[in-house]
Amino acid sequence: MFLSDGKLIEMTFDNILVSTTNGVSTITINRPSKLNALNKATIEDLHNALAELKADEATRAIILTGSGEKSFVAGADISEFSSFNIDQGKELSQEGHNRLFNYIENFPKPVIAAVNGFALGGGLELAMSAHIRLASDNAKLGLPEVGLGLIPGYGGTQRLSLLAGKGKAFEMIFTGGMISAEEGLQWGIVNHVYPQAELMANATKLAEKIARQSRTALEAAILSVNACHTDGVNGFDTEVEAFGNCFGTPDFVEGTTAFMEKRKPNF
Ligand code: COA
Repeated sequence: MFLSDGKLIEMTFDNILVSTTNGVSTITINRPSKLNALNKATIEDLHNALAELKADEATRAIILTGSGEKSFVAGADISEFSSFNIDQGKELSQEGHNRLFNYIENFPKPVIAAVNGFALGGGLELAMSAHIRLASDNAKLGLPEVGLGLIPGYGGTQRLSLLAGKGKAFEMIFTGGMISAEEGLQWGIVNHVYPQAELMANATKLAEKIARQSRTALEAAILSVNACHTDGVNGFDTEVEAFGNCFGTPDFVEGTTAFMEKRKPNF
């Protein structure tokens, strides 16, 4: 059910809460008794909610967070895969990439992770698939999979290497240990750290600022920045193409006209 922009809109799912106001949709992973661990049903809910928000005119930016004060997401749900064989393991990973993690990374609207506590394993991988990460000062980040006889399987080996560099990625993955939000900031994993009580207000402020920008330009920016890290794709070529295409959009006309008329653009 979608009303006009600026009104609170809610969508119903079993494992997540979704609400939209002022152009910003907030998705809250809501399994606090399991520290918001990502089971299959939650991954499906997240995919389905995102697919709806993709088409929703009222949604211009998205915040992803976890319910409660303790955990963003404490990883993939270990109880669901403890008896898997090799093929099931590969499928688990590939499905996760397709349905959620790559889907978020390539989502045409900006996605901000507001990391409000533990972001472990699939939780940190979820945050790293978002375009921007903010963290509360109590957040703990880690990829503990080696302790389970596994490696990160939802993009963690790749995205952590890109964000923090190969050496830091190896250290985090080899030890399975957790780092603080402040260390995450120093490592380049998170953009900003806030006191827990101020995290959502800051995430909302940032998302609302982004939501006022041209949506076609934001989509072109996501495409172009992601092209930098896509195998076999020349990012400069992608940028040239996407930059050129912006000239054919109503937002380009509005943005440049507003500048000439010394007013704010209305995208
Ligand atoms: N999968 C399934 N259940 C999980 C989970 C996960 N990744 N993380 C936490 N839970 C569940 C616990 O089993 C427990 O459920 P229960 O009350 O029914 O026994 C509940 O969430 C609370 O967790 P608990 O371990 O009691 O909290 P804690 O404060 O003592 O410890 C953590 C918090 C995050 C350190 C600990 O839960 C943990 O190590 N979780 C697993 C992290 C992990 O390895 N993630 C990567 C998975 S690939």
